[in-house]
Amino acid sequence: MFAGSNVVRPLPCGRGSLWIGYSPRMAKVRRSFVCNQCGSVSPRWMGKCAECGAWDSLEEVAGSAAGGGGVDGSGQRDPQRGLAEGWAAEGEIAAGNPEAKRLNEIEPLDMPRLGTGIGELDRVLGGGLVPGSTVLIGGEPGIGKSTLMLQAAGRLAAEGRAVLYVTSEESAQQIQMRAKRIEDHGRGARSTAEAKKQAGGGELFILADTNLARIFAQAGRIRPAVMVIDSVQMIYNASVDASPGSMTQLRRCCMELVFLAKTTGMAIALVGHVTKDGQVAGPRLLEHLVDAVLYFEGDRYHAHRIVRGVKNRFGTTLEIGLFEMSEAGLREVVDPSGILSSDPARNQPTPGSVVVPAMQGTRCFMVEVQALTAAGILGAAKRRVSGLDANRLSMILAVLEQHGGLRLADQDVFASVVGGMRVAEPAADLGLALAVAGSHLRKRIEPAMAALGEIGLSGEVRRVSQMEQRLREAARLGFRRAIVPAGAVEGVRAGAIGLTEVKSLSAAMEVLR
Ligand code: TYD
Ligand code: MG
Repeated sequence: MFAGSNVVRPLPCGRGSLWIGYSPRMAKVRRSFVCNQCGSVSPRWMGKCAECGAWDSLEEVAGSAAGGGGVDGSGQRDPQRGLAEGWAAEGEIAAGNPEAKRLNEIEPLDMPRLGTGIGELDRVLGGGLVPGSTVLIGGEPGIGKSTLMLQAAGRLAAEGRAVLYVTSEESAQQIQMRAKRIEDHGRGARSTAEAKKQAGGGELFILADTNLARIFAQAGRIRPAVMVIDSVQMIYNASVDASPGSMTQLRRCCMELVFLAKTTGMAIALVGHVTKDGQVAGPRLLEHLVDAVLYFEGDRYHAHRIVRGVKNRFGTTLEIGLFEMSEAGLREVVDPSGILSSDPARNQPTPGSVVVPAMQGTRCFMVEVQALTAAGILGAAKRRVSGLDANRLSMILAVLEQHGGLRLADQDVFASVVGGMRVAEPAADLGLALAVAGSHLRKRIEPAMAALGEIGLSGEVRRVSQMEQRLREAARLGFRRAIVPAGAVEGVRAGAIGLTEVKSLSAAMEVLR
């Protein structure tokens, strides 16, 4: 029954015996498949990753390459040290094994953050690049990642820092042309010194290469404070037997770069492409390796862009940075009211449109929430959102049916936030509810009125945080009234804005004319 040299032993088990077969040959077969989306390891190929559900994402890897964390079980040299090890000889890298220390004995890191000089980017980073850290910047092709990185590199260089910009997709001449474009257009408006500051030139080095060893060699020569790798998907380590862009290559290259950053104190920015569904292409695994992950969002057919932090070991992920793509590269948008909502003094509100003071990190933006209802099919009505939470919309529709007297079951409902912003906070509930109700009833909200409040399941309007800041921002932008939860403004200095306090959604709907 059991062939060859297999060892079969009977194992006492109740009344009978359980036979355990052991085949030495079986143990040797080490094929494993790694998902190039989430990095999970599976012993056999499957069309769909069991972990993350991605289709056709499993790649076969040989033996230990699939092992977790890059630690080589054979007791050999740590593979992630690979290329960076070369620097150890020069005393750059602390040699020897690290020792456990008491928490209060650890020397604090007194290296200041490297401000990129681009306020909106620094804000998302939490104040600038942290020396020794690695940041991943993801975004769709053509969104402006290279432009932003080149501008940041230029500014850092103008501050007198050595910056190495590695381009693995374009030639050095193409980068030069882009830098010139940013510089030339800037010159008209600013002084030459300032224009130079924007596009750089001083200590900015450009390297067009894809080989990691050669990149390390150049970095060793220049010793930059900041290195940009644009893009990380194109570089490869020649000692790894896998094609560039594959899961294995990407992981190895990224690990070596993270190790280089940690050991030399260099800040490294990695640029990565994202797939259609918005993930950094290939590995979500990269996100675990780096210290911060920023996403460049926005419609490439519109001028403005949003940089959002989704992970940050040195700061909050609540902040966003706003930019506008112009002839002269990316321009910071410091006061975005014009793009996110229409001017309340000049424009009459339309049915289905309500402006909400929404918090994004520490800032408040006036964002326009829009909704449209249209006749649909009962039982198969569509509900679509853009920039809002779909579950939140479903809940609000149910509350509108139960407590607002609307019949929406046979209505398709579309809701979106203007300007590509994302508003997830419940404070926008009332605005969204009024937008849906307004569209359905063909009624509009009072002119120059903003709405603020969370909606509970029993139709009550609940209080929200940061009332004062939100009302101040609304008043600053010309809103004359705000509809707010009752009692929420006690002790709040509302300033120049009039308040309509409401307890319930049905009361709030009275402001619709
Ligand atoms: P790019 O930074 O190359 O995008 P990515 O690296 O994310 O793929 O630039 C994208 C677009 O921006 C490109 O279509 C051209 C446009 N652009 C401007 O409009 N103005 C400029 O000054 C620059 C440099 C680019
Ligand atoms: Mg690019």
